[in-house]
Amino acid sequence: MRVKDCYNFDDFRKLAKSKLPAPIFHYIDGGADDEVTLNRNTDAFNDCDLVPSILNSVGEPDLSTEIFGRKIDMPIFLSPTAMQSLYHPEGDKASARAAANFNTMYSMSTMASFSIEEVANISSGPKLFQLYIHKDQSITDDLIDRCKRANFDGMCITVDTIVAGNRERDHRTGFTTPPKLTLESLMSFAMRPQWVFNYFTNKKFELANLKHKTDKGTNIAKSVMEYINEQYDPAMNWKDAEYCIKKWNGPMALKGVMSVEDAKRAIDIGCTAIMISNHGGRQLDGSRSPFDQVKAISDAVGDKLEIILDGGVRRGTHVLKALAAGAKACSFGKAFLFSLGAGGQEGVERLLHNMHAEIRRNMILMGCKNLSELNESKIIYRK
Ligand code: LAC
Repeated sequence: MRVKDCYNFDDFRKLAKSKLPAPIFHYIDGGADDEVTLNRNTDAFNDCDLVPSILNSVGEPDLSTEIFGRKIDMPIFLSPTAMQSLYHPEGDKASARAAANFNTMYSMSTMASFSIEEVANISSGPKLFQLYIHKDQSITDDLIDRCKRANFDGMCITVDTIVAGNRERDHRTGFTTPPKLTLESLMSFAMRPQWVFNYFTNKKFELANLKHKTDKGTNIAKSVMEYINEQYDPAMNWKDAEYCIKKWNGPMALKGVMSVEDAKRAIDIGCTAIMISNHGGRQLDGSRSPFDQVKAISDAVGDKLEIILDGGVRRGTHVLKALAAGAKACSFGKAFLFSLGAGGQEGVERLLHNMHAEIRRNMILMGCKNLSELNESKIIYRK
C-alpha cells in the first residue's frame, strides 16, 4: 500500500500502523479509559442527516473562510499535536509545508519536536500556536513572546489537560518522550527497522520549544502522562487565561470548551474563537462529543466568536455537518497524524487533497455555493 492508494481515514491509519512502532501508533490511536468518548466523537456525526437543495446554479463552490484573522481555502485545518518527528523525521516542517500548500492552518503544539522559529522560517502559511499554561510562568511567557516575534497568526490555550487522562494503551506499551527501549517495547521497535534507522540518522528528538527550560521530555524520558502532571498547572483558572490573552493581544481561542456557559465566559475574557474539543477523547472519557455541543453553543454565541469543532472528523461530510450545526471551521488530529506517519508531507498533502475534493463535491451535491449556505436548514437531527 502506498500514499496514493489512501482514500480515507482507515487507509491512512493502516499504512501508518505498518510503519510506526506499536507504542507510537497507539499513542496516536488511543483515548482515555474505555475510549467511549473517542469513538463517540466520530459516531455523533451519524445522528443527523444532510438535506440537499436542488437546481441552485452552484457551479464552482467557494470553500474559503477566515479564522484567527487569516483567510484559509478550506474549512478544515491541522490540530496542534505533540512530537510530530516521531511520526515522520520532518515532523512539523512536513505538516506546515503541506498546510501552506493548501492554504490552510498548521497548528504547533507546545510539545512540538521542531521549534516556533524553525517552522516560522520554512512557512509563511497560516500558523496557530497551542499553549499549555505551565507551573513555571516564565515558560508560558517565553512561548507567547516567541510566537509574537515569529508572526504566528493566532494562539489557543488548551484548557482540558490540567491533569493527564488515563491512557491505558500508553501504560501497556511504555510509551515515553523521548522513546525509551524497554523489554516490552523492544520487539515493536525491532519490527520497524526503517523507523529505527530514521530515528537515529535524523535530528535528535527534543521538545524543541521547551528544551532550554527543562531537560524533561528531551534528555530525561518521561511518559506523556507524567510530563503533563509534572509541568502543567492543575490550578489554572480564568485569570490565568485572561493574562495570556492580554499578553498575546491577538486572535486567541480556548481549546477544550464544551459548555455554553464557558463559551460565554470566553467572550468576556477577550477570546476571538473557541475550539469545542475533548482532546480527541484522550482526557475525560464519558465526555460529550464536540459535534453534540456545536448547535447549542452556536445558538448562544455563534455571532460573537469563531466556533471551531475539533474532534472525530474523518470525512468531508463531517465538516459539512459541523458547519451546518454552526461551526466556522473544523480541525483534526488523528486523521492528519496517520497521514503524516503514512507518508510525511506527501501523506498530509494527499489527505488535504482528499478532504478538499470531498468537501467540494459534497457542497455541490448539497446545492451550496459557499460555506454560509450550510446553515441549520441543511441538517436534520434524528432524535
Ligand atoms: C496529548 C497531549 C500531549 O494528547 O496533547 O498527548
